[in-house]
Amino acid sequence: MARLVLGVGGGIAAFKSAQLASLLRKRGHRVRVILTPAAARFVTPLTFESLTGEPVYHDLWNPPRYGDPDEALGEAHIHLSRWAEGALVAPATADLLGQLASGQARDGLTAFLLAFGGPVFLAPAMHHRMWLHPAVQEGVERLKRWGYRIFGPVKGPLASGEEGLGRMLEPAELADLFEDHLHGRDMEGKRVLVTAGPTQEPLDAVRHISNPSSGKMGYALAQAAFGRGAEVILVSGPTSLPDPYGVEVIRVRRAVEMYEEVARRFPEVDILVAAAAVADHRPKGMQAGKIRKEDLPFQVELEPNPDILKEMGLRKKPGQVLVGFAAEWGMDEASARRKLREKHLDLVVLNDVSRPGEGFEADTNRALLVAEEGKEELPLLSKRELAHRILDAVARRLSRG
Ligand code: CTP
Repeated sequence: MARLVLGVGGGIAAFKSAQLASLLRKRGHRVRVILTPAAARFVTPLTFESLTGEPVYHDLWNPPRYGDPDEALGEAHIHLSRWAEGALVAPATADLLGQLASGQARDGLTAFLLAFGGPVFLAPAMHHRMWLHPAVQEGVERLKRWGYRIFGPVKGPLASGEEGLGRMLEPAELADLFEDHLHGRDMEGKRVLVTAGPTQEPLDAVRHISNPSSGKMGYALAQAAFGRGAEVILVSGPTSLPDPYGVEVIRVRRAVEMYEEVARRFPEVDILVAAAAVADHRPKGMQAGKIRKEDLPFQVELEPNPDILKEMGLRKKPGQVLVGFAAEWGMDEASARRKLREKHLDLVVLNDVSRPGEGFEADTNRALLVAEEGKEELPLLSKRELAHRILDAVARRLSRG
């Protein structure tokens, strides 16, 4: 739970920032909003006041009173710069980016941003030709050099009715990314490979063997690792999830395809997290076309798929960290330890898939982290929170060398 400033610029995406403010508050953060005068023409201060339960700062010359004990020590923008632990600017308009990149402070938001020393995340939104203007692009490069994190814009329909690179990320995506980044930057300079989702093993052109893995755990891990500064590659089986922002996504279908992609990228990574529910077997010899109902066999001959994680365990170089999952019927620690040894892993995330609301398709998960030197029992967590706890354990291992 953090003390956050949400800065809102004057663009049509400002209406989405109302939802963002509400989301951040629902997640337990204290949110104080600063609107630029232009933003206050799109969405009223009262909207944000009602959503956050905090006064809204929208007029540099007439700042609100927050009622904090140390408030008398400086002007509102200075006071907020001491109060806040992180700041998110959404939408960051061309004008806001330009002011910030050239050190100007014409309103309460830019005054605050110049005074604030903590992490600042910018979510640009504007017409795609404005975004591509060299003044904006050079400003963005400069801001990145100074340590500002920029999320988006992404491609999509714009207010003008055109399509282009200029849309702000969605509020839920921004809230996730922001929280992930606030975790710290302990994965900076690391390359992380994540496998996710199920695999499908075709019997013919229209039938396959698979499992109900949603991919949520692996996608949460990929997003969380990116948030903590890593370069992330996600090799995903078929899922209905959108590509996580900032992550290189390689989509595959069959276990052998997943194996080939992982084997190709494994030598260059520091960390492999295998969250995919890989089908252990595949039908022997896929039939071309569709098998007619009356020709369907009552017994299907299967052959084993490669064990991707085990193979990578054999190729592991010193310093590489390997994390596997074990889906057990009951918390079978002995079996998790066997996997740890047999697959040369550093960490096994043991899930009890017999419990409803946990594992495969659920949004939450209860896990036991098992390592050679010990174990850590975790409570029921959202898959995002669990992703961070797994990465905490990986980061501790990396820092030990
Ligand atoms: N795994 C893999 N390739 C496979 C099978 C599994 O990479 N062909 C990885 C999974 O991504 C997971 C771990 O290995 O990280 C799971 O190991 P597995 O031995 O399949 O254990 P369970 O799924 O728990 O099932 P079982 O104990 O029945 O083998």
